[in-house]
Amino acid sequence: MSPGSVPLPSSPAPGREDEVRQSLRAVIDPELGDTIVDLGMVRAIGVTGGRVVVDVALTIAACPLRTQIEKDVRGRLEALDWVESVEIRIATMDAAERAAVMARARWKAREDAPETAIPATARVLAVASGKGGVGKSSVTVNLAVALAQRGLTVGVLDADIWGFSVPRLLGMEGEVEARKGKMVPLEKRVGAGMVRVLSMGFLADEEQAIMWRGLVLNRAVQQFLQDAHWGDLDYLLIDLPPGTGDVQMGLARLLPRTEMLVVTTPPLAAQKVAARAADMARKGYLRVAGVIENMSDFTCEHGTTYALFGTGGGARLAHGLGVPLIGSIPLHPDLAAAGDAGTPVAGGDGELASIFAELARMVAEEVAPLLETSSCSARLVERVEAAVASGDLEPG
Ligand SMILES: Nc1ncnc2c1ncn2[C@@H]1O[C@H](COP(=O)(O)OP(=O)(O)OP(=O)(O)O)[C@@H](O)[C@H]1O
Ligand SMILES: [Mg+2]
Repeated sequence: MSPGSVPLPSSPAPGREDEVRQSLRAVIDPELGDTIVDLGMVRAIGVTGGRVVVDVALTIAACPLRTQIEKDVRGRLEALDWVESVEIRIATMDAAERAAVMARARWKAREDAPETAIPATARVLAVASGKGGVGKSSVTVNLAVALAQRGLTVGVLDADIWGFSVPRLLGMEGEVEARKGKMVPLEKRVGAGMVRVLSMGFLADEEQAIMWRGLVLNRAVQQFLQDAHWGDLDYLLIDLPPGTGDVQMGLARLLPRTEMLVVTTPPLAAQKVAARAADMARKGYLRVAGVIENMSDFTCEHGTTYALFGTGGGARLAHGLGVPLIGSIPLHPDLAAAGDAGTPVAGGDGELASIFAELARMVAEEVAPLLETSSCSARLVERVEAAVASGDLEPG
């Protein structure tokens, strides 16, 4: 059944349709690196009062991103204050539509994204916040360790060039070596998995770093992505520097499939800056995958829990952004102490370790599951590329 054949509710409110379309511009197909609106995946929008019906056409029926795209569409629309109900009708593109979308994705990929050393199947998650000191780096390293404990290979790119902290937090030291002129990330075995790290902290001192094959400081992130041997990775976590700006925009250009995990603390002010960070990401067309609340509450040794900074901030921000709240991490002195000692709590077996294990489970199973490459659209793009290269298909 083609969704076009089912009449959409009549629309007395064209303004609302525009608003819906605008909201859907925040929904990114992470593999194709573009908004579902610009990719032509939104076929029709119908609004009757508070009821919204959206027809979404996927590239292929068994698209592994289907659930995620549906969730994102629903989340974005439910965040609009006048929306009462959302119906999403999923259809599959026909061959002509698919060719058009692939042509656009291919064009965008060529225009926007230079080659990187990050494997096409790795899921890329950048940990961001609007404000400094909310725990981005602590969340990044602990999530990396918790994912590695699931037997995965996790890259950690420390994009905080001036204020790097990943080496210390992971208790890793050493110097980056070169193989065939490219940087080799430092490795650490964690359980059945592996963590691979690149950080300015491994480039000895700054002077030496600049000398190191002419590494240019303001392009270090790009060089970490391009001039490195990352090998096979399941996830790449990127620890962003505080604030919004250049690095995010750079990532949107270099690695448009990057998705953001926004870290916030409970107070309202923190949510507002975090929301600004998410907004920046959207302007650069990075998908926001979810919110993590850090320092949510504090339980003293007598078992009494204090919400020092208020409660519900993470949930409110997640709702406002139309994305899931992935987890809440309590304020706990052990977390800071373990960071100082270079032994991340996620590698232990206490309560904090299980909180990060649950966070990793959410990421790996719900929020950003690994893609099955046999059927995903990234693979489709590759096939189209191959067909174009062999002259079977007219380039679009
Ligand atoms: N849940 C927590 N409980 C207790 N201390 C925490 C928690 N999360 C982070 N911290 C501590 O707060 C400080 C800041 O954390 P972290 O360096 O991870 O933040 P950041 O957002 O990366 O900071 P920056 O913006 O400077 O990069 C550190 O001393 C860390 O140990
Ligand atoms: Mg940091």
